[in-house]
Amino acid sequence: MNTEQLKETFISLYGESDNEIQLFFSPGRVNLIGEHTDYNGGYVFPCALTFGTYLAVRQNNQRLARFATANFDHRGDVKLDEPFEKEGKSWINYPVGVLNEFRKKAKEIEGVDLLYSGDIPNAAGLSSSASIEMVTAFAMNEIFEFGFDRMDLVKLSQNAENQFVGVNCGIMDQFASGMGAADHALFLNCDTLDYERVPLKLAGMKIVIANTNKRRGLADSKYNERRAQCESAVEAIRKEKNIRHLSDLDLEEFNALSHLITDETERRRARHVITENTRTLGAIEALIQDDLQSFGRLMNQSHDSLRDDYEVTGKELDTLVEEARKISGTLGSRMTGAGFGGCTVSIVGDEQVETFIREVGKAYHERTGLTADFYVAEIGDGSKQID
Ligand code: GLA
Repeated sequence: MNTEQLKETFISLYGESDNEIQLFFSPGRVNLIGEHTDYNGGYVFPCALTFGTYLAVRQNNQRLARFATANFDHRGDVKLDEPFEKEGKSWINYPVGVLNEFRKKAKEIEGVDLLYSGDIPNAAGLSSSASIEMVTAFAMNEIFEFGFDRMDLVKLSQNAENQFVGVNCGIMDQFASGMGAADHALFLNCDTLDYERVPLKLAGMKIVIANTNKRRGLADSKYNERRAQCESAVEAIRKEKNIRHLSDLDLEEFNALSHLITDETERRRARHVITENTRTLGAIEALIQDDLQSFGRLMNQSHDSLRDDYEVTGKELDTLVEEARKISGTLGSRMTGAGFGGCTVSIVGDEQVETFIREVGKAYHERTGLTADFYVAEIGDGSKQID
């Protein structure tokens, strides 16, 4: 749906008015490397995609926020003079959670009509929920002149997801959606929140995303279990060294202290986090040095660690990665996002992209019975207002 169609749909839903319709956009993201490190105070390296969530907004001169989406048939209203309540598993919880966070900071909106339209593939793990939160936060901040900066809005959106929606995610997805820049990846230190935009110089290569199209059944509970295992590993280490999170340790320190983690599974979880931080720093350095071979190799190692130590891959992601690596011209391939389904990201030579999509798609179907979708990623800007 283009922006003209979005406006037309808006008017067909909410009618004509003298108030202006304003349009906003926030992207989804793909993470290149640095997985399951954000909530451990580590490094991530995501970039914003050109697909994401569009939002058309208009003030309605009532004490009411009305929500609709062009993606499916579900609407909802929220009274602005009453407490915001969570509504089951509705998508409206994401934007209402954002309004709730603004309210905690004594920032109240006036009545608005909102129409969302997303072009991120559904449930693909490319952060459609973060893009809904960020587009809402960004739009309300602009329209009502709340005066928050982007990083405030990123944190506010993460809080909405943690506290209102009830998903205990880290900061990476909201950060990438809010702070992205075309043709750049974002190097974020999730402990200090210092970040840098690194030019994505991929001479002759493309970023190819492959969607397993596997339903991510118990992903949330397994995600929380991984978080708990990391916290427990931190507790164990604290018997000898006072750390705040796993990323306070480098590999050498970890190797010297890892015997304190008596649970073998927890030890492997912790090892993933610490080795992933090292790989992420190495990959960023390799990119800066135009050494895409090394970048790809570190992506491969990242996947293997997520498969063996962190155990968040599964048959579908592993199959896509195995088949991707068989294609000459693939420099690296790994799962991206939380795992348990969702997508892989691969760096593939321009000339081989077609073969990649055909061959990996065919083998994946033969081995799993599922049909993968492929997207050649374009790296776009973070949250913005559009004309
Ligand atoms: C999900 C979460 C992120 C991050 C990744 C794993 O996408 O929302 O905060 O933890 O998983 O790297």
